[in-house]
Amino acid sequence: MTEYEKIQNQIKQTPGRWLVTGVAGFIGSNLLETLLKLDQHVVGLDNFSTGFKHNFDQVQQLVREEQLQRFTFVEGDIRNPATCQDVCGQVDYVLHQAALGSVPRSIDDPLLTNENNLTGFLNMLVAARDARVRRFVYAASSSTYGDHPELPKVEERIGRPLSPYAVTKYVNELYADVFARTYGFQTIGLRYFNIFGRRQDPNGAYAAVMPKWFSALIRGEALFINGDGETSRDFCYIDNCVQANLLAATTANPDALNQVYNVAHGERTTLNELFELIRQRVRAILPATKEVLPTYRDFRPGDVRHSQADISKARKLLGYEPKFSVKDGLDQAAEWYVRNSG
Ligand SMILES: NC(=O)c1ccc[n+]([C@@H]2O[C@H](COP(=O)([O-])OP(=O)(O)OC[C@H]3O[C@@H](n4cnc5c(N)ncnc54)[C@H](O)[C@@H]3O)[C@@H](O)[C@H]2O)c1
Repeated sequence: MTEYEKIQNQIKQTPGRWLVTGVAGFIGSNLLETLLKLDQHVVGLDNFSTGFKHNFDQVQQLVREEQLQRFTFVEGDIRNPATCQDVCGQVDYVLHQAALGSVPRSIDDPLLTNENNLTGFLNMLVAARDARVRRFVYAASSSTYGDHPELPKVEERIGRPLSPYAVTKYVNELYADVFARTYGFQTIGLRYFNIFGRRQDPNGAYAAVMPKWFSALIRGEALFINGDGETSRDFCYIDNCVQANLLAATTANPDALNQVYNVAHGERTTLNELFELIRQRVRAILPATKEVLPTYRDFRPGDVRHSQADISKARKLLGYEPKFSVKDGLDQAAEWYVRNSG
């Protein structure tokens, strides 16, 4: 039995109360789905800035009625300290996902990114500390590696941030570390590397590459690659990310606490390779779709050239074992995007 299977059994036997911020978003709604399926009580917070009610509709269809009854949704904003205090009362674990994602968005509007990702984060830390929650697990980011050239990325060695978004995610880690040392509070940061899968939004100017490409290929629309396509990423399927969150929230290993971990699969895929993998899958399900060829355009400012994680720290201290490779994840994602587009 894997560590994750053990933890899932344990969680199911001793139901707890969880707060998921950003619960209407991509990662948050997947955490919600898994926790409800494990018979947990979940309080969810979201302001719908980039999240959607239709994500709840999907979750609703995937869980039993009595499981859904254990979900309480609060529409509110982490920039409001009183809201953070309200939602933290009575919860055991916090999985803090709410933030404004996207490097380009942060370059366009650094103040807005700072308010949400930094002030909001600090509000949540203070509220969780005051409510004496057992553990505060938060979404950190691979963007913290910035311009450090080493591959694969090891948690201890980071470079200079390349965007306002990366600054906010790095400062989150600094605050969490200070709170752990100053208030004896338990935190774990998860540096996500390009998470993908069901319910990741394909629309809008700041959409991530993978859902955007699925959508374009399914609809036969124009598709762009920034740069020469040899930029690479460590794409990580959503179920691996959910696993990391549950392991981090419940680990009994004292050495695992107050640390940050890479959450990835550990494989590197170039954008050119990714395009081909997605194209093949869409064609296999929808053979009649119009053939689309990518148009290459300029590199995007703030983007790192290559990204790949060393996941041995999460393996060793948390028992993290990513179950889905990029190809496995793409198989699942392709089915979902085809079913849900249009
Ligand atoms: N998806 C990735 O590949 C990736 C990579 C690195 C880090 N992250 C981080 O993971 C977290 C979740 O990302 P996601 O991909 O699910 O994005 P998402 O945009 O789908 O989800 C974020 C959710 O937070 C909510 N939110 C934003 N600001 C809020 C506020 N002020 N108050 C309340 N709710 C607010 C949004 O409405 C949305 O539902 C974010 O912290 C993001 O920075 C994601």
